[in-house]
Amino acid sequence: MHNSIKTTLALLVGLLLFGISSALAFSFDFGDDDDDWWRYAYWGNPNQPWVAPNGMYFYPRLPYFQRHDMVDRRQQHMAYRANAMDELAAMLYGRLGFDRAQAIKLARGIESTSGTVLMDNFHPGAVATYGSRTTLALWQNQDAFRANALALQAAAKALAEEFEKQPSAEEGAVFLPQRTDGYGQPSQEKVAVSPRVWEKYNAMTGTCDSCHRGFRGYDW
Ligand code: HEC
Repeated sequence: MHNSIKTTLALLVGLLLFGISSALAFSFDFGDDDDDWWRYAYWGNPNQPWVAPNGMYFYPRLPYFQRHDMVDRRQQHMAYRANAMDELAAMLYGRLGFDRAQAIKLARGIESTSGTVLMDNFHPGAVATYGSRTTLALWQNQDAFRANALALQAAAKALAEEFEKQPSAEEGAVFLPQRTDGYGQPSQEKVAVSPRVWEKYNAMTGTCDSCHRGFRGYDW
């Protein structure tokens, strides 16, 4: 009698331990480790256009790490473009002296990181992500998005080519003060710049803007 109670208890404890460990073992998975889901669990009305919808409801998504990495990269690249545009504007509108080599480098830099290269960091599975501002419009409109990216590339190329021109006064050159030192201060020396660079610069800002109007919204 004694023995059978001990045996039964030992069996039950054994079963319990086995059950717990197998439950733990089989509930583990390598799926999307959204362990900070609570940060972007937003309970408001997702149909209000001025708040981003709750990213948790928009699947499929890339795994957590990959999509956040992608968002960081595309935001860094955009910040790089914005800095380049700021420096170009400063050169064209007089805050800094004009440096032809630097102007060409900035425009070519944007050209080489636009087009299909820009698309690389806009995977549809990395849209509904905390901190991202890309809109869901990307899901159905990748062709339009690509067209914007290519338009930016073409505009940057046109601007770089305009900077490369060194027209004479008869050809309508505009003379800008040359940058001399590392601080960008203008000097007395003048550089001949094509009168069409302003037009090309503004055409380029237009391509940034037209993509943002369709594809950049509020923080997810
Ligand atoms: C093909 C579309 C497209 C083009 C072209 C484009 N952008 Fe963007 N940009 C976006 C999208 C989409 C976002 C939102 C990215 C995100 O947060 O997921 C963005 C975000 C940004 C941001 C905010 C980055 C941040 O840190 O959150 C800046 C600044 C920016 N863009 C500047 C520019 C400039 C300057 C240009 C032109 C030289 C440009 N963009 C061209 C689509 C575009």
